[in-house]
Amino acid sequence: MSVTPSRVAIFGAGYVGLVTGACLADLGHSVVIRDVLADRIEALKRGEIPIYEPGLAELIAANAERIAFTTDVREAIDGADFVYVAVGTPPTYSGDADLSAVWNVIDELPAIDRACVVVMKSTVPVGTGSKVRHRLDERGLVQVGYASNPEFTAEGTAVADFLRPDRIVVGAFREEDGDAVVALHAGIESPVVRCDVASAEMIKLAANAALMTRISFINEIANVCEATGADVVRVAEGIGLDRRIGPSFLRAGIGFGGSCFPKDSLALKQLAANSGYHFQLLNAVIEVNELQKRRVIGKLHRHLGSLRDRRVALLGLAFKPDTDDTREAPSIVLAGRLLAEGAEVRAWDPIVDGHDLYGVEIAASPAAAAAGADAVVIVTEWPELIDVDWASVGASMRTPVLIDGRNLLDPVLIRAAGFQYEGIGRAAGPPED
Ligand code: NAD
Ligand code: UDX
Repeated sequence: MSVTPSRVAIFGAGYVGLVTGACLADLGHSVVIRDVLADRIEALKRGEIPIYEPGLAELIAANAERIAFTTDVREAIDGADFVYVAVGTPPTYSGDADLSAVWNVIDELPAIDRACVVVMKSTVPVGTGSKVRHRLDERGLVQVGYASNPEFTAEGTAVADFLRPDRIVVGAFREEDGDAVVALHAGIESPVVRCDVASAEMIKLAANAALMTRISFINEIANVCEATGADVVRVAEGIGLDRRIGPSFLRAGIGFGGSCFPKDSLALKQLAANSGYHFQLLNAVIEVNELQKRRVIGKLHRHLGSLRDRRVALLGLAFKPDTDDTREAPSIVLAGRLLAEGAEVRAWDPIVDGHDLYGVEIAASPAAAAAGADAVVIVTEWPELIDVDWASVGASMRTPVLIDGRNLLDPVLIRAAGFQYEGIGRAAGPPED
């Protein structure tokens, strides 16, 4: 399908705004990305990309003539056919989504005398679109359309996820606004789900909840495996081959983190509660995840007894590989718990700088983090950890204990390298003599 170039303004130069902007420019559209952070915009103008997302810098560079950056609202809006909202919606103290940045964008819009569509990319509670529509009408922006076009990209694979999505969801109040948003994606092969705005908003929250439910489910199965002698890796393989179940999101570990799952689970829980419904299953999913992060501490206790003055190496700080994002990362909970127990914590991550982690010493390599330690914990499944010379790392440690929070390593090889190895939900090794 040939692309009719549109002019797209994007509010928010974060993970979603930058990926959306780069991908829409790659489809042939002309994009202006606006952020309130002057430093960020200046860096982007110099060609520096403020986040680590594979392929993003290259895509922005390849489409540089179609992407501009600004802090100025009018410059962004000038001639725009679409105004994308891609600002953060973090949790408030109550767990509800904080929509203040979204409302800032809507309230900052100048009078617009041409047809354009405000497109909500940020994840928002169901009902937000109706409220935004009402506010636009109150402000006399009646001709400005509104559509919900939730984002399903995952960090680390966001560019590919955007350009080759499982589906594009578009909810709109007016048919023609939805048509325009669908047409903007010409060039992307994907099923399109057209629906009302509230359903589009719910699809996003429900998709995340379904994925989190699978993770907490397999983590509970892992915990029962530990108690009964089964191996969750084999169990996940065995159930995932059932076509009705499928293999994805069945990796047991130390729980989900990131900028989306934890906050979106709370937002959906509160959305339900505010509407008078107690979402029992989602509450359990959240609770299982909280406990899962802490089970590692129990494992360390079993091997080392008290953790006071013990040295523990955390390998990986990002909430998952291929990102520099540490929002709600299990590493932060683990570091906090270990420090509270009186342990010394040394950490390594190939991308995250980590110097803002209070009380944690940052090491330059996995081996440097582990030297002299009583235990290492694999927190993020960075592939480079597979190729570490574990035998020499073990030899450099005070006690060679390895807790593999992501089931990354081969237990047989690691035990052969001299470690006391424990994964998550994995069969116990051969009895130690
Ligand atoms: P982010 O924090 O990385 O970026 C948000 C950006 O918006 C920041 O740079 C901030 O300065 C800017 N901003 C704030 N107010 C602004 C304003 N008035 N005008 C212009 N810019 C403004 O956030 P993110 O991770 O990109 O997430 C954005 C939204 O997308 C959230 O609702 C999130 O839940 C959702 N989402 C994120 C992901 C993801 O992988 N990160 C995936 C799907 C959906
Ligand atoms: C997620 C959703 O996948 C994406 O659709 C949405 O747009 C944003 O939130 P993201 O948070 O970037 O994406 O990463 P994802 O790969 O989904 O992982 C989230 C967390 O779940 C990570 O901490 C990861 O380690 C954990 N996880 C994932 C598991 O513990 N087990 C799994 O099987 C899969």
